[in-house]
Amino acid sequence: MKLSQIKQLSQTKYLPIIRPKSEEVLCALLRQNAPRKILEVGTFYGYSGAVMLQCCKEAELCTIEKNAENAAIAKQTFTDEQVADRVRLIESDAMDAICMLEIQGEKFDFIFLDGAKGQYAKYLPYLKSLLNKGGILLADDISFHGYVAEQTVKHKHRTIVNNLKKFISQVTSDSDFESEVFEIEDGLLIARKTK
Ligand SMILES: C[S@@+](CC[C@H](N)C(=O)[O-])C[C@H]1O[C@@H](n2cnc3c(N)ncnc32)[C@H](O)[C@@H]1O
Repeated sequence: MKLSQIKQLSQTKYLPIIRPKSEEVLCALLRQNAPRKILEVGTFYGYSGAVMLQCCKEAELCTIEKNAENAAIAKQTFTDEQVADRVRLIESDAMDAICMLEIQGEKFDFIFLDGAKGQYAKYLPYLKSLLNKGGILLADDISFHGYVAEQTVKHKHRTIVNNLKKFISQVTSDSDFESEVFEIEDGLLIARKTK
């Protein structure tokens, strides 16, 4: 699909693609830092992946998606947006893929974390090791529809919310990261690995 078609579809149907202001922040960060290697956790239809590659003409993207239908649409998006030659799409559960990348000794300059929110804390040590010194970790939806800030959280959201709180606390208390949480749309956490 073309990015314009995905955008159009999102007007009539809920699609979990990056929201407009968060997209602006993502693109501004990418333009400032010009990463060569980007890792994305959570490809969906390839919207944010193609946007990132259009912001960074020299960059390569490794993106992880476990849902086969989403991955097939994403491949088409990368082709339609003429960035497919700079994409490696790993169709797998993110934890398995992240562990594999770590074993292979891969390194990235920028990580866009936009997959299963309840797993972010579990991914963190691996993502930290995959990130180059000076690299940036951007995590989307860390407010989880505002539930993270609520005093009492419904039972069905409790595990995700507790895991997200743990993730935020782990990053912000880690002296190897300079980090900040932004209340933009569904919440963004931006962290630079300084050591
Ligand atoms: C919020 S969407 C990603 C949106 C995309 N980054 C964008 O802005 O265009 C999250 C995606 O993560 C995928 N996902 C969820 N859990 C996953 C897991 N454990 N491993 C890999 N992918 C996962 C979902 O199938 C979904 O496509």
